Amino acid sequence: MAERERLAKAFEGVGDEYDRYRPGFPDAAADAILPNRVDAVLDLGAGTGKFTELLITRADRVIAVEPSAAMLDVLRMKLPAVAARIGGAESIPLLDRSVDAVTVAQAFHWFDRDAACAEIRRVLVTGGVLGLLWNRSDPGCAWDRACQSVAHPAVTADLDSTTASADELPGFVLDGHTEIAWSEQITRDDYIRRWLTVSSFLAADDDTRAAMVAELDSILDTDPATAGRSLLTLPMVTEVFTYIAA
Ligand SMILES: C[S@@+](CC[C@H](N)C(=O)[O-])C[C@H]1O[C@@H](n2cnc3c(N)ncnc32)[C@H](O)[C@@H]1O
Repeated sequence: MAERERLAKAFEGVGDEYDRYRPGFPDAAADAILPNRVDAVLDLGAGTGKFTELLITRADRVIAVEPSAAMLDVLRMKLPAVAARIGGAESIPLLDRSVDAVTVAQAFHWFDRDAACAEIRRVLVTGGVLGLLWNRSDPGCAWDRACQSVAHPAVTADLDSTTASADELPGFVLDGHTEIAWSEQITRDDYIRRWLTVSSFLAADDDTRAAMVAELDSILDTDPATAGRSLLTLPMVTEVFTYIAA
């Protein structure tokens, strides 16, 4: 099994922990994709609905497609008004030209890019919007970046919380790129628990995972911005790419 597929499958078993510990997204990210209300929007690779929930006030119909049943169970509980369907980006369970916009939060890098683009293009109306977004660590935050390198050693450097190259996509024209800086207060314990929901931690065996957590603890114990603190201020950047279906 390819490394990307193996890591993507790690999400199959998580739901509650993912929803509890992963960050949400700023409203401005949804505004960048949907400045005006639309009839129907699809959130693809929706997970537990952390971005889907921002779409509810921006579309008459919100559809979530996600391959992990555990993730989708949480989404269904939280967002009963959303039409939630099991499925993948490479075979989207929707009719041709049935949505005005497709959003992909923190998930496009898991897709088989060309197959997914063809499917997204099929379900979108011509002129429809594709919005890709990722939360990234703030380059100025040394301790968070050090923790990132524990989670994403060389083999996974392009996966999970990093962006795939999102400049040219078949069937789409790049329309905009926005970076939104924001920050959150998070306890040190929850920050560690957040890492435990990241693919490389999920896919690791128990000993490897324990060693990775020890590395995180050592970083937080020694960086002057985090040493001795139980509440951390975590700066983040949400990167948004918008495309128009050609
Ligand atoms: C990091 S999570 C992001 C979830 C959610 N969008 C969020 O922002 O919280 C990545 C999600 O992509 C899903 N995923 C992985 N491969 C996929 C594929 N081929 N098609 C659709 N979703 C996929 C995973 O099951 C997981 O829910």
